Amino acid sequence: MVLKDRVAIVTGGSSGIGRGICLEFAREGACVVVADVQETPKRGKYHEKDITTPTAVEIENTGGRALFVECDVSEEASVHHLIDRAVAHFGKLDILVNNAGIFKPGDSQSLVMADWDRIVGVNLRALFLTMKYAIPHLKKSKTGRIVNIASVHAFHGGGGPAYAPAKAGVVNMTRDIAMELGSHGITANTVCPGYIETPIQDYLTEADIQHCLDKTPLPRLGKPRDIGRACVFLASDDAEWITGVALPVDGGWLAPIGIL
Ligand SMILES: NC(=O)c1ccc[n+]([C@@H]2O[C@H](COP(=O)([O-])OP(=O)(O)OC[C@H]3O[C@@H](n4cnc5c(N)ncnc54)[C@H](O)[C@@H]3O)[C@@H](O)[C@H]2O)c1
Repeated sequence: MVLKDRVAIVTGGSSGIGRGICLEFAREGACVVVADVQETPKRGKYHEKDITTPTAVEIENTGGRALFVECDVSEEASVHHLIDRAVAHFGKLDILVNNAGIFKPGDSQSLVMADWDRIVGVNLRALFLTMKYAIPHLKKSKTGRIVNIASVHAFHGGGGPAYAPAKAGVVNMTRDIAMELGSHGITANTVCPGYIETPIQDYLTEADIQHCLDKTPLPRLGKPRDIGRACVFLASDDAEWITGVALPVDGGWLAPIGIL
């Protein structure tokens, strides 16, 4: 168990990738704070159609320790409450995973300003908030870790005029925080998923999904566990000298682009 007794907050932990990260952290012995706007898992049109057990309940059913905290990561008071509640419950904080994210399809003409603000607010601005309130506690940990979830869309166009720049911003904000926190021994890294089978993909057609599979060199789409295992590594002692990197976990999606 490489994360035994470490305390981790995972935002957006009720569904999809966040749920996968929570379950892998718990399997590795971490105490997991599941932070989400809703406790009930989302049920997708294509993926996670039958998941009904809340993440924290699932962890406790298998002998782990977990706490659900309702939180909207775009709201400062809600984030402040989340961090206070996590530290009050488990006594400390070692790991922050910023995973909560939203996507809305649309281009410069169909997205309205409120959509742009919401997408950037949840996918980028919220990370500043959670880090602002978590960092004082991470500085008290001997193994402080921040893992931010971006996307392959951080590195190329096609993700829309709000989502793609927000994810690119996540990569560079993480590098900046890595520099700020290096002297404290805290690492900050980004994981950039390719297509992962979660409810966020409900807006796609079956032909779109086949197109994503065709663009993925490895012969399957990703699963939340694939991202969960990468996060376990970056949160573990094995990664104590890795900071400021953006790790694609994408089945090879970015390999033809060759920028990393
Ligand atoms: N699934 C993919 O193919 C893929 C690819 C690249 C990047 N990502 C990124 O991975 C992350 C997780 O995506 P997913 O596919 O699991 O999505 P999902 O929609 O399946 O799950 C997202 C979770 O975040 C929660 N959430 C949404 N807004 C929130 C808010 N304001 N505050 C707190 N929680 C909130 C939702 O309730 C949900 O439980 C996102 O940042 C997404 O952009 C996903």
